[in-house]
Amino acid sequence: MDLHFTGAQPSEEERSAVDGVLGEPEERGGPHWSTGGAHDAERRRHLLLPTLHAIADRVGWIGEGALNYACRRLSIPPAEAYGVASFYGLFSMRPRPPRVVHVCDDIACMAAGAADLCKRVEGEAGKPGTPSTDGSSTWLLSPCLGLCDRAPAALVISAGAQGRWTPLSAISASDVVAAINGRPDVGRPRSTSTTREGEARASSGLLRRIDRVDPESLDDYRASGGYAALRRAFELGPSGVVREVVDAKLVGRGGAAFPTGRKWEAVASEPARPHYLVCNADESEPGTFKDRVLMEGDPFAIVEAMTIAAFAGGCERGFIYVRGEYPLATDRLRSALDSARLHGLLGDDIMGRGFRFDIEIRRGAGAYVCGEETALFNSIEGYRGEPRNKPPFPVQRGLFGKPTIVNNVETLVNVPDIVFGGGRAFAAVGTADSTGTKLFCVTGRVARPGLYEIPFGVTLRELIAQAGGVRDGKRVKAVLLGGAAGTFVTPSELDTPLSFEGARAIGASLGSGVVFVLDDASPLWPILSRIAAFFRDESCGQCVPCRVGTVRQEELLKRVASGTPLESAQNERALLADIGRVMRDASICGLGQTASSAVESAFAKFDLSRRGPA
Ligand SMILES: Cc1cc2nc3c(=O)[nH]c(=O)nc-3n(C[C@H](O)[C@H](O)[C@H](O)COP(=O)(O)O)c2cc1C
Ligand code: SF4
Ligand code: FES
Repeated sequence: MDLHFTGAQPSEEERSAVDGVLGEPEERGGPHWSTGGAHDAERRRHLLLPTLHAIADRVGWIGEGALNYACRRLSIPPAEAYGVASFYGLFSMRPRPPRVVHVCDDIACMAAGAADLCKRVEGEAGKPGTPSTDGSSTWLLSPCLGLCDRAPAALVISAGAQGRWTPLSAISASDVVAAINGRPDVGRPRSTSTTREGEARASSGLLRRIDRVDPESLDDYRASGGYAALRRAFELGPSGVVREVVDAKLVGRGGAAFPTGRKWEAVASEPARPHYLVCNADESEPGTFKDRVLMEGDPFAIVEAMTIAAFAGGCERGFIYVRGEYPLATDRLRSALDSARLHGLLGDDIMGRGFRFDIEIRRGAGAYVCGEETALFNSIEGYRGEPRNKPPFPVQRGLFGKPTIVNNVETLVNVPDIVFGGGRAFAAVGTADSTGTKLFCVTGRVARPGLYEIPFGVTLRELIAQAGGVRDGKRVKAVLLGGAAGTFVTPSELDTPLSFEGARAIGASLGSGVVFVLDDASPLWPILSRIAAFFRDESCGQCVPCRVGTVRQEELLKRVASGTPLESAQNERALLADIGRVMRDASICGLGQTASSAVESAFAKFDLSRRGPA
């Protein structure tokens, strides 16, 4: 693609997709230019990502004419817009068929037979990327789609006037082939259910409304206690709300475990205006699906929690950055926002209390690193989703350079209960340093994969027992705790209490709440290779230690696995430790800093000197 403006013109479809986001162009020396000069262009740049989505949704890929047109309308140089569009895994800059079946080959799907499934699909439909005979579809491999409890999974993206994204779960190879051939509604119907038939549904805790309360009904949400906490927040005032959250000792559930009250306090006291609030719903850590379940099953709780957080931090505008692969979550949130607005629960005078706040949804487009808070800001602002150096921290200079609260979905969903029931009552649950409950995504070789809520302090062994124990009477070989960025845990560590301090004591972290169980018949090598490939793919490439280190790590694994180590297996282990140290010490963001954690822990705890029983 030429990186200057060229003569390429948009098709009618592409033009209307762009105009659908940016509005009809005003005539000014030509029909396309944005008006208002450089300042106006900067102001509208955040519309770039939604515009790219609109083009891709309509025609399936982003062509030169479409990009030219979007760039002229937004006054963005084509080279920059190309850099943004090509950053995202779900966009294609080359022609491709309008229907693409993305088949997950990540860890949980792998444990459910995805490798064999993909081989069969390849036998029928050709290698990933091969167009179908009529040119209308193709299939691709995908990292985790957030449907790990119903693995193996796929996502069908059909471009067109009514673009459709259809997640498929518990699929077979013939389901995928049928989807490639134009019957996408195969596999299990998409569902918000966290519980399977015969299992008890949660009657209290964070999951209490899931499968019990209609996620599209504000009345039902209110009837189940919804919006009582916001009313209470108005009584407490912003500093009273912050005090409850501090007393609750709530810490972030997005992976970094930062105290939420301190973050809010810091933003509230910043003189610069406006303040922003961002809900991080990007959830792309392989093996994680907890935020999807909350968004699909209890969207009003997120809207109410965001409104309370915004009130506490003095924020005027909020964004929910939802993982692109979560169409149902996006629909449910959109519907909840519309209802809240209609009933005066968002807007200029919320509940008649003179508080102004509103929320916009932004869809990600397939980039794990965009879950990193500063990468997420860049993505919303219309730049490449590359993490920024810290400091300055988001509480000082976040979204659009202004003080910003950024919180994970699960973190926020705790807030209404804290405000309504009191911070001290919340802190009475769990352990002294890890208060409240935690959602764990239990997958792999357990009898009942799913989302489980437990008070902090319950042991890993007890949690696995709740998920039905290991399937087919087998035994645990290893547990990957915390996701691809986490650590492997051995059977002798199963009595570890699941708390921040408990995990720390064994050199692990809870991360985003992944508990991926391997039984004694499951090989470890394919999982390690998949994790290494994941980080190599997802590194944004901005800093050398991560860009090169993730490639070197993958190469090293291949050598050891194939029995051709450089010098000796011991030498390779020393090399791996070296690569890991450099990535930890010298990478800008958490992706590079944790990219070797799982692999290094596997080498430390299991016999991986050669491809064999491990
Ligand atoms: C590579 C990377 C990916 C991340 N992905 C997510 C994510 O998907 N969701 C999330 O809430 N936090 C994610 N985080 C953590 C965020 O940077 C940030 O700490 C978090 O959103 C803050 O919210 P919390 O305090 O409520 O946890 C990620 C961090 C890194 C380094
Ligand atoms: S550590 Fe990796 S993902 Fe993070 S900024 Fe550097 S290159 Fe990008
Ligand atoms: S959906 Fe396949 S690993 Fe998560």
